[in-house]
Amino acid sequence: MDNTKKRVLVVGATGYIGRQVVTELVSRNYRVVAVSRRPAKQGEFEGAEVRIADVTDPHSLEKAFHDDINVVISCLACRMGMPADFDKIDYQATLNVLEAAKANITDHFILLSAICVKLPRLPLQYAKLKMENALMISKMDYTIVRPTAYFWVMDRQFDNIRKGMSGWMVGSGEYARYNPISKEDLAEFMINCVEDTHHRNRVYLIGGPETPENIVTYKRIMEMIFEALGKKPKIKSLPLWLIPAAIGITKFIAVFIPKVRYAAEFLRIFRYYSINDMRAPGYGTRTLKNHLEIQAKEGKEA
Ligand SMILES: NC(=O)c1ccc[n+]([C@@H]2O[C@H](COP(=O)([O-])OP(=O)(O)OC[C@H]3O[C@@H](n4cnc5c(N)ncnc54)[C@H](OP(=O)(O)O)[C@@H]3O)[C@@H](O)[C@H]2O)c1
Repeated sequence: MDNTKKRVLVVGATGYIGRQVVTELVSRNYRVVAVSRRPAKQGEFEGAEVRIADVTDPHSLEKAFHDDINVVISCLACRMGMPADFDKIDYQATLNVLEAAKANITDHFILLSAICVKLPRLPLQYAKLKMENALMISKMDYTIVRPTAYFWVMDRQFDNIRKGMSGWMVGSGEYARYNPISKEDLAEFMINCVEDTHHRNRVYLIGGPETPENIVTYKRIMEMIFEALGKKPKIKSLPLWLIPAAIGITKFIAVFIPKVRYAAEFLRIFRYYSINDMRAPGYGTRTLKNHLEIQAKEGKEA
């Protein structure tokens, strides 16, 4: 079937990667359905059809699958929350989408997961693994894409440093090493999986280019931000032992103020990614260094 005939439905279309996936599909002339839980703004998702649905509600999803859908791409994810929230979106809601796809006799389901599931320690990773397993035994053709870190994870630090603040890292900042991937390269890879049947029924670990300048530690990223902004490095470090201590304290406070559990969960996630290596086989051409330089230049022009 040529691309112009294939209808591809994207859930999580309003997210960082989902938006790029929609853009890439439209540019390759697919018939694209972007599922969102709110109406599109003017100019949003140009070239795609927007369908409103609540992925947590199977009945609402049925309507989004009212015609033939050849491929589903899920970029759904719970941004932040308690363990049950991850289960609700990364597993249960994504499973609802898989069930709707099965009922629709969809050909192929592409699931955006994460590289960190190879060393599962956190509720978000267990939820993703449960979904990966459900997909693998679903009898539908699948592709599971497990990317390493995205470029945006350093945006907050970049903005703070631009405003004159220090850069922050944990301990030596050299425990974890990874090759971050751009949203453009990742979306391109995912759409290649729609096109090439060799990518079916496979699990891919994927990172950005494996060039020396793109295999980085947190410390190196901090240095790169200062270099891109033409500033003298001002990097501060939180002792590694402080994080488990802070987790313990926040958990204790959460006994009295339940909302503080979010902070404890956030700290657990923060610690995990600060100390665990996330290198993956390289793909694409865009490096974090280029991205930081472009951000610095755009900021100056603005
Ligand atoms: N951040 C990283 O460095 C990194 C690295 C590797 C893998 N990943 C994984 O990559 C995937 C995509 O990440 P991303 O940064 O593109 O995520 P994102 O920007 O947070 O997008 C998440 C998407 O899920 C939707 N969603 C969340 N909760 C929902 C709910 N209750 N009901 C309906 N929709 C809901 C969001 O819709 P709304 O816009 O309506 O909220 C959005 O479209 C995730 O699986 C993530 O874990 C991330």
